[in-house]
Amino acid sequence: YVIGVDLGTSAVKTLLVAQDGTVRAEATREYPLYHEKSGWSEQEPEDWVRGTLEALQELASQAGVGPQDIEGISFSGQMHGLVLLDAENRPVRRAILWNDTRTTAQCREIEKTLGDKLLAVTRNPALEGFTLPKILWVRENEPQAFERAARFVLPKDYVRYRLTGGIQMDLSDAAGTLLLDVANKRWSDEVLGAFGLGAALCPPLVEAGAQVGTLSEDAAAKTGLSAQTRVFAGGADNACGAIGAGILKPGLTLCSIGTSGVILTYEADASADYKGKVHFFNHGKENAFYAMGVTLAAGYSLSWFRSTFAKGESYDSLLAGIEDIAPGSDGLLFTPYIVGERTPHADSAIRGSFIGMDGAHTRAHFARAVMEGITFSLNESVEMFRQAGKTVDTIVSIGGGAKNPAWLQMQADIFQAEVVALENEQGPGLGAAMLAAAGCGWFPSLDACADVFVKRASSYRPDPARSARYAELFRIYRDVYAHTRDLNH
Ligand code: XUL
Repeated sequence: YVIGVDLGTSAVKTLLVAQDGTVRAEATREYPLYHEKSGWSEQEPEDWVRGTLEALQELASQAGVGPQDIEGISFSGQMHGLVLLDAENRPVRRAILWNDTRTTAQCREIEKTLGDKLLAVTRNPALEGFTLPKILWVRENEPQAFERAARFVLPKDYVRYRLTGGIQMDLSDAAGTLLLDVANKRWSDEVLGAFGLGAALCPPLVEAGAQVGTLSEDAAAKTGLSAQTRVFAGGADNACGAIGAGILKPGLTLCSIGTSGVILTYEADASADYKGKVHFFNHGKENAFYAMGVTLAAGYSLSWFRSTFAKGESYDSLLAGIEDIAPGSDGLLFTPYIVGERTPHADSAIRGSFIGMDGAHTRAHFARAVMEGITFSLNESVEMFRQAGKTVDTIVSIGGGAKNPAWLQMQADIFQAEVVALENEQGPGLGAAMLAAAGCGWFPSLDACADVFVKRASSYRPDPARSARYAELFRIYRDVYAHTRDLNH
């Protein structure tokens, strides 16, 4: 067996996976998010460690599985989160997460300081969620904490450190820091120097599939796993989501709806130039890349809607009856900017809206409108790729958005592409397990592993009439941003 650990924003999910790719067991632990001020989003690194140890212990205690049977473990992690460590590798403050938007001033400073180099070297625009702006924010606003900081890591790197005692960062996650020279796969002295940051702040870089050690005796004792278990670096959740969905060759596109939502395309090399309109990161597959657009509040919009208007109810109950409502929710339109938006607006101040309310609308209309609004937002990324000359005709859909057949059909109708759902889809956790499986030598490559582990289950094709209706509504959706901007700016 191998284990994939997916350190997400709301929970850590662990999978025990057999050599034929079947998931034998899973264990999940949730942890809190702290929103102390508007736009702030933080987590306690110790909560991740506790949750991961507990979940691993539950996996290790599965009947019929001995510690020696578990050969390898790897990780997928929420991206960009800043974990600043002191000289003894203790966090100097809580982690500042990818969906925290306090760093607008630092982003403008980065743009001003780096100019054209920003895109040329990091291949990405300066966005609030990325790591460098967070480092600058702490330096400016909490100088005492910064004074104690010896280096920084990303969320899953911290958890891996606690399981192995070693500190590293893999390229796919490092790509989201704005400190990496993405095409040349090394920390950028130029960017570090421009902000007076020392190279010592950055951990050693490794490939996502590299073995970085074995479990420490302490971690083995706490989980019931063996200290011989090989540990592989792992990658960013979006890279691992892509691996777990088999997005490992040109022509494949992924739609992943978790807390955030992404549309991601495989890039065989770093030659594509999207002019900073989408993110461009190193893949978890060696020497490959991916480009993606991000909707900040995708699944989060639906979970916000549920916890606000259907507290205590299941998603099934919230979504009952939505398939009986026509595309367009009888005139109700939602924009999912409830925590700001990344692609295409890169605007952390914009907020969402419900427009077109009618006295006859039911809660199910609102739920359907939320799903449509999330999908419209993702469609902005699909359109952006098409405008850049990419063919987007098959999209593998994973995450919460792939759990509901009505939503999968909606994706096909709105994206105007074939949407494929996977059998027993497990998201980034499976990609992490695949990094361990390939690393343990079960397969000659990640591609060969995907041939066995990733199975397509069903496919949804766009319906011409519904697609045409959605195309009209998408035009209106696009206009809402410009007309509501001033409400929140
Ligand atoms: C990607 C991003 C999110 C997180 C979610 O740039 O910020 O998708 O990776 O964990």
